[in-house]
Amino acid sequence: MIEHAQSVAGAYDEISELYADHAGSAFAADPLHRAVVDVFADLVDSTGGGTVLDAGCGPGHISAHLARRGLAVVGVDLARAALGLARGACPSGGFVVGRLEKLPLVSGSVAGVLSSYSIIHTPPERLPGVLAQMVRVLAGGGHLLVSFQSDEDPAGPVEVFDHQVATAYRYGIDQVLEPLREAGMVEVARSVVAGREDARRGFAQAHLLCRKEQPST
Ligand SMILES: C[S@@+](CC[C@H](N)C(=O)[O-])C[C@H]1O[C@@H](n2cnc3c(N)ncnc32)[C@H](O)[C@@H]1O
Repeated sequence: MIEHAQSVAGAYDEISELYADHAGSAFAADPLHRAVVDVFADLVDSTGGGTVLDAGCGPGHISAHLARRGLAVVGVDLARAALGLARGACPSGGFVVGRLEKLPLVSGSVAGVLSSYSIIHTPPERLPGVLAQMVRVLAGGGHLLVSFQSDEDPAGPVEVFDHQVATAYRYGIDQVLEPLREAGMVEVARSVVAGREDARRGFAQAHLLCRKEQPST
């Protein structure tokens, strides 16, 4: 498991500047992605604000967007070079090396978690554990936004795809939602961008927004 993590980190570190340019411009040119991130930020604000975690933050362009929205941001990633770029892109953020499988944060300590395309290198057998970590660090009532390459069919099969950086998986929404429900989340909304909008691969892009249920009193 650690070996797999190190190979993903090494691969992203090698192309960190190139990836930062590509991902930063893709986010700037994608009004739908920005809109769901803004809805996430609005919900964090309207439920009392607080720190948000950018889980698998990469070069930090979304962390910087959230910080411009006035949120306090912490970012976690395996790739050290990407974290260096994230510190430059988002000077107010706190960026730490860590694995999604064992997030270096106290349980219930963040008001929101955003995972933008960071679960795509997680093999299916490890996905429930990674999602459970995101739920663990989230405070009750907090929101989680997970974005990933998907399939228009929510029950679509898990497919390995040939990502330029490291082996990647695309998941039907149900495969992400089910473990989240088991970990105590409820679905708030989903946005699925049609596959035909992805000129390169023809993959649907899913943005799944969930809320952590408050413990009953
Ligand atoms: C496709 S990039 C997405 C980066 C950024 N969130 C974005 O939207 O552009 C995937 C990121 O997740 C990180 N990542 C993948 N698996 C990880 C793991 N198990 N633990 C921590 N970070 C991970 C990678 O290092 C990489 O920075």
